[in-house]
Amino acid sequence: MNQVQRVQSLRAAVQAARNDKKTIGFVPTMGNLHEGHLELVRTAKRRAEFVVVSIFVNPTQFGKNEDLGNYPSTPEEDARRLAELGADLLFLPKHETMYPGSLDEQTVVYVPKIGDLYCGKDRPEHFYGVTTVVSRLFNMVQPDIAVFGNKDYQQIAIIRRMVEDLAYPIQVVGVDTVRNDDGLALSSRNGYLDAKQLKAAPNLQKRLSEMADVLKQKPAVISKSALKLLEDEAKDDLKRKGFKPQYITVCRQSDLKPAKKGDQELVILAAAQLGKARLIDNLEVFLGES
Ligand code: PAF
Repeated sequence: MNQVQRVQSLRAAVQAARNDKKTIGFVPTMGNLHEGHLELVRTAKRRAEFVVVSIFVNPTQFGKNEDLGNYPSTPEEDARRLAELGADLLFLPKHETMYPGSLDEQTVVYVPKIGDLYCGKDRPEHFYGVTTVVSRLFNMVQPDIAVFGNKDYQQIAIIRRMVEDLAYPIQVVGVDTVRNDDGLALSSRNGYLDAKQLKAAPNLQKRLSEMADVLKQKPAVISKSALKLLEDEAKDDLKRKGFKPQYITVCRQSDLKPAKKGDQELVILAAAQLGKARLIDNLEVFLGES
């Protein structure tokens, strides 16, 4: 696996693959790779003939008091695992490659509405940072497909919207969340949890699954007030288990707007602080299926 830092070298390698009539797959990451990321790379390998992985801890998607300075970094281990999986090219851009000018003057890609909900409300600068860096990376790599984890459900929905609105000729592929046996979604931020918190953390997914059961058994609960009650009960339960819930919301898969009676394809989205870790998770719910 080749490693490059400069856009010129990245483009030359991608062009050589294109000359060989290979399709280009791309997996953007912030490094500290875990099994969830590796599953993205495996998916990219199945769907494309030349796979580029980027590692860049993107400062613009972190808020002022967030964990940018402590974000875990394991570059050698990451490169080893990617080479083992057969990734073709590792792109490790420097800060000045991604942001050549002052951050205050940087063009920003903003996806309105869907980007303002949920995580966008709690972390106002977060999705600006994600869509801006992903759009730059897309222009640098110019892949045919790009692979993201469905754990970041809102992120992938926003990226899909951006790709459609800006006419990127890129197919966005989502990959199911990889979980521990106890149900905890893998995340680089799980490393911030102590032993007690690690034991409590699977309760997030467990609670979403209980909410999904209620929705499936009683689809009639889908009224604004009944959903609020269901969401509030879940928040209270998680508070008792040591979480500080930020949002738990039942919404429509298509546009992430709050679910309404008659909607069949739902997703429950949740974010909660547990100790130093901000955990997010989700669960898709299909009503009308046995
Ligand atoms: O999902 C992530 O790891 C990041 O948000 C991404 C897509 C690599 C952009 O920095």
